[in-house]
Amino acid sequence: MQQTVYDKFKELFGSDGDIRTYFAPGRVNLIGEHTDYNGGHVFPCALTIGTYAAARKREDRVIRFYSINLSDKGVIETSLDDLTPADAAGWTNYPKGVVWAFIGRGYAIETGFDMVIIGDIPAGSGLSSSASLEVLTGFMLRDLYGLDQVTNVELAQIGQYSENNYNGMNCGIMDQFASAMGKKDNAIFLDCNTLDYEYAPIVLNGYKIVVTNSKVKHSLVDSAYNDRRSSCEKALSELKAVIDIDSLGALTEEEFEAHKSAIADPVRVRRAHHAVYENRRTIKAVEALKRGDLTEFGKLMNESHISLRDDYETSCVEVDVLVDAAWSCDGCLGSRITGGGFGGCSVSIVRDDAIDTFKDTLTKAYKDKCDMVPEFYVVSVGDGPTRF
Ligand code: GLA
Repeated sequence: MQQTVYDKFKELFGSDGDIRTYFAPGRVNLIGEHTDYNGGHVFPCALTIGTYAAARKREDRVIRFYSINLSDKGVIETSLDDLTPADAAGWTNYPKGVVWAFIGRGYAIETGFDMVIIGDIPAGSGLSSSASLEVLTGFMLRDLYGLDQVTNVELAQIGQYSENNYNGMNCGIMDQFASAMGKKDNAIFLDCNTLDYEYAPIVLNGYKIVVTNSKVKHSLVDSAYNDRRSSCEKALSELKAVIDIDSLGALTEEEFEAHKSAIADPVRVRRAHHAVYENRRTIKAVEALKRGDLTEFGKLMNESHISLRDDYETSCVEVDVLVDAAWSCDGCLGSRITGGGFGGCSVSIVRDDAIDTFKDTLTKAYKDKCDMVPEFYVVSVGDGPTRF
């Protein structure tokens, strides 16, 4: 891929000067869903699939973008003097938002650049193609403009900031953090309230992480996501009247049960219930993984799915069919929807010798019940961003 992106860059923009190539990964979240913006814990890992770029600094203030995946859009041109988001700018609103956020933080970017990208994250799969593009852009800007003071954690924060404030998606920090801080063969146990984190080796002794792509993406995802987030914020403000906390992630299950009557609306009680219990499940799941108890880890994944399906209502019929079928498979320890939801992927822990049967069972169930064909990826856990 890096050769493809480099060759395309030379073809479009010429081969002279200092052309550099970069990569930033997508992510899959093992457990801890919709907890990041609730001050809770998450447990994602970076993938070996992601987004690649070839880029070169310019001497004027022009910026030119080209995506090999979206070649029909052609070269999209803008300038450092025109960084307002625009519908017509399409996918380039992600890298433009990151440039805007860098400048907003006072980092000197005084000349433009040319950038060609290509990605191998399936579109709309919920494996964080946009976060990988944001982290890729930040990593590239740091390198091209010599902004060595920017840490990888800050790259994640800048990515999230630009997505919230430039692209209007009120996401938490998980996806950008997983991409910017990824470590081969490790998942990241992140406290989203403090950004304290710990790497946990993925030791699965005869099991693999299998991602199943439903290939559906329901509409209005961003507004439904933003709606979940504001429900939790409202529930938190109601709870604050009766208990001194600064996030739902600060509550134990018992504290939540003792105080939940302060939340006026029953739907909000369910949303907050998910946020509190999912956070506790994540902490327990990491403990289980550390002591090698994969069965317990899988059980907590299943509980996570049930909570997302029934209380948080961010699953959908298609992913429920895939997860139900996974639960029926011998050799599958756990399965749940992963990511923002409303489509996208499930993540499962499957015994090596059961993977083929697992694929057959899910394919058959999905065909019978939804008349669709899923895609499977056996996950390799990769590193964070790199320059080649
Ligand atoms: C999306 C968001 C993340 C996180 C997940 C749900 O991927 O970008 O910040 O909230 O949904 O866990």
